[in-house]
Amino acid sequence: MERVNQDGNMTTQEEVSNFNAAKKVKTLADLSGVGPAILNKLTEAGYTTLEAIAVASPQELSVAAGIPLSTAQRIIKEAREALDIRFKTALEIKKERLNTRKITTGSQALDGLLGGGIETRTMTEFFGEFGSGKTQICHQLSVNVQLPYEKGGLNGKAVYIDTEGTFRWERIENMAKALNLDPDVVESNIYYMRAINSDHQIAIVDDLQELINKDPSIKLVIVDSVTSHFRAEYPGRENLAARQQKLNKHLHQLVRLAEMYNLAVVVTNQVMARPDMFYGDPTQAVGGHTLYHVPGIRVQLKKSRGNKRIARIVDAPHLPEGEVVFAITEEGVRDAED
Ligand code: GTP
Ligand code: MG
Repeated sequence: MERVNQDGNMTTQEEVSNFNAAKKVKTLADLSGVGPAILNKLTEAGYTTLEAIAVASPQELSVAAGIPLSTAQRIIKEAREALDIRFKTALEIKKERLNTRKITTGSQALDGLLGGGIETRTMTEFFGEFGSGKTQICHQLSVNVQLPYEKGGLNGKAVYIDTEGTFRWERIENMAKALNLDPDVVESNIYYMRAINSDHQIAIVDDLQELINKDPSIKLVIVDSVTSHFRAEYPGRENLAARQQKLNKHLHQLVRLAEMYNLAVVVTNQVMARPDMFYGDPTQAVGGHTLYHVPGIRVQLKKSRGNKRIARIVDAPHLPEGEVVFAITEEGVRDAED
């Protein structure tokens, strides 16, 4: 198959290397032939993401950014390849779905609520007030993902992005021992990074592809909490639009990562119980919102008596309704005793 660009026909070999290059495309600057000058033109014309390029028409992009039509055609194609935007057959969709795997939470009740556990290819959000168990679940999952398949794991590794500094290796150690796993091995299979602000958090996720390509056994990516930096840096109503826009982009990138690499993404979101809000949709009942605008599964956590916690799925028609109770014990996330 031949393609024509500014330089004339391309050889098959060039095409192959182009395709490979496109596989590594993460940002506009990675598109072949996009140097600082073109990047500037694209940005000024409002094309700041691969998504924006991918859905543009060549004519529109060429005119808006003042670049040759052939360049526009080429970068649109590359952006689409990078995002895997193309027709798929129903068979491909079926195979993708069948490839989806689940990670046990440690509680059968909670697994049941989730249709078997935390799904790969999906972003799962745990939201709830302080102490509701979000961070404990993240710790437990980064251990459980390492279990063999028959025990509810994926024989995989975890990436733990910590924005609040609440990660505790001691807790991992306890959870590993409780499952008869070697704590040192378990700890060496968790890649940890503290994100110091929202830009850093975004940059870490930008670079994740590279780490995952190097270590394909990564099957879980955690961001605990995904919203705290954004809330702190963009306070108040007047910053809401800017905050949502930046957060949205970040979340979509995480969703894409989950789909591309068939891994589970788990994010947490502290949502204050609002005493002034007795009625209405709990997904809105926040000093911020849940991440309702991004595809994924949302699980609300509530404190109950003692070590018990209540989990409820919000807004997922394909999962059973209702609440389940689980417990946070010394050994980790478990079914509640009674
Ligand atoms: P924020 O991050 O503040 O929004 O809260 P969170 O939802 O992340 O809460 P987290 O997961 O930190 O849950 C805290 C609760 O887990 C505590 O109130 C304890 O009940 C329990 N917990 C935490 N660490 C341990 C532990 O080492 N042993 C036991 N038994 N329980 C623990
Ligand atoms: Mg926490």
